[in-house]
Amino acid sequence: MSYVIKLECSRCHRAYEPSENPVMCESGDMGRLDIYYDYERMKEILTRKTLGERRETDVWRWRELLPVDEDFAVRLGEGGTPLLRAERLGEKYDISNLYLKDETRNPTASFKDRSMAISVAKAREIGVRMAVTASSGNAAAALAAYAARAGMTVLAFVLHTASDAKVAQLKLYGAKVVKVKGVERGKDPTVEMMLEAVRRYGLYPSPSFGPFNPYQVEGPKTISYELAMDLDWVEYGWLLAPTGSGCLAAGLWKGLRDLVELDLVSWYPRLVPVQPEGNSPLARAIMDGLDFTEIEPEGSPRTIATGLSDPYPWDGDAAMEGVRRTGGRAAIVGDDEIVDAMKDLARYEGVFAEPSGSAAVAAAKKLREDGVIDRGDRVVALVTGSGLKDLAFTSRILGSTLEVGMEIKKLGEIVDQLLGNS
Ligand SMILES: Cc1ncc(COP(=O)(O)O)c(C=O)c1O
Ligand SMILES: [Zn+2]
Repeated sequence: MSYVIKLECSRCHRAYEPSENPVMCESGDMGRLDIYYDYERMKEILTRKTLGERRETDVWRWRELLPVDEDFAVRLGEGGTPLLRAERLGEKYDISNLYLKDETRNPTASFKDRSMAISVAKAREIGVRMAVTASSGNAAAALAAYAARAGMTVLAFVLHTASDAKVAQLKLYGAKVVKVKGVERGKDPTVEMMLEAVRRYGLYPSPSFGPFNPYQVEGPKTISYELAMDLDWVEYGWLLAPTGSGCLAAGLWKGLRDLVELDLVSWYPRLVPVQPEGNSPLARAIMDGLDFTEIEPEGSPRTIATGLSDPYPWDGDAAMEGVRRTGGRAAIVGDDEIVDAMKDLARYEGVFAEPSGSAAVAAAKKLREDGVIDRGDRVVALVTGSGLKDLAFTSRILGSTLEVGMEIKKLGEIVDQLLGNS
């Protein structure tokens, strides 16, 4: 049974019936078709008790809050990721209650599985055979995996900066991959190519940007639900998210709002979208108090966090609303701070993240140093993508590896040195 009441364009406010299964606003205004639910009818079913008793741990645990019937679900074990209490890292950063939501543990090793599980389920419902996407790599990899399982074909336009590992992953899942040259004058050519494929050939658009597919936005909101449940529905202070297009932050905000609408909680954590210095149009706009319509795309993004290099924050409007309504703020971190966070995550907590996936942790450290976050605050940082996504990068930031023969004498030196260091 669907609880969706309507879809409504975030720009021109044109409303659509759920049965129309719209994907983009017909007026071509690049608005996002926000999905509205009947919370009153859901309230009887969705209580802390009934939700706690459900046996599923994947995103379908929240089926009433999803825009597709569960019968169309394509499952790979998306969602239900661990929330790790980071004691050692918390001590290093002087944050006594630091938590990591480990999204690297999703089936294709990034949080995008949540989005694409929903998008592909919707595609199955509509009867789509071929999807097209524009991506820095992770969303495309997620789409390719779910599409493979659903027997759908995928055409993926990825930025030429996408790591070899991400491209290889995509190809192994059977997607047709096309690398596209970088962003020019603020225009993302992967998006332009994708839109042409939609206009000319009627392919189903499935990037992780709301204006081109409203269904996938509903995936990341399940992170907010899981966090509330895993923290025993008790209020926490901060929710930090690596941000590129703003779709993740928009989804988190939607999830936080849903929880309040359903009377499951009566609080919001402060939402913090985190962007890298080399591509921070959304974060800068928030810091400067600008309106969404005043955002200028980044001319040519430059950052090691390639997953956060969208020159234009397509879902920035909803992300900005989330920041405003939760009393949050934006954060900008340098590439060097991201590398440090990546090393800290691995060395202090055993979590292997890619640069894009480490940005929120870098921001937690920075906001604590700046006195914005207090020592006792409960802080959740999302770790959104696995380090296995770009091993070449990790190798580059590490020193050379010692190589020996059968040199027992050396062994003593090595152990002594290690003991001396420990
Ligand atoms: C690992 C990782 N983290 C965060 C993001 C940012 O998500 P969004 O574009 O929804 O802001 C991405 C996007 O590609 C990503 O790959
Ligand atoms: Zn519209």
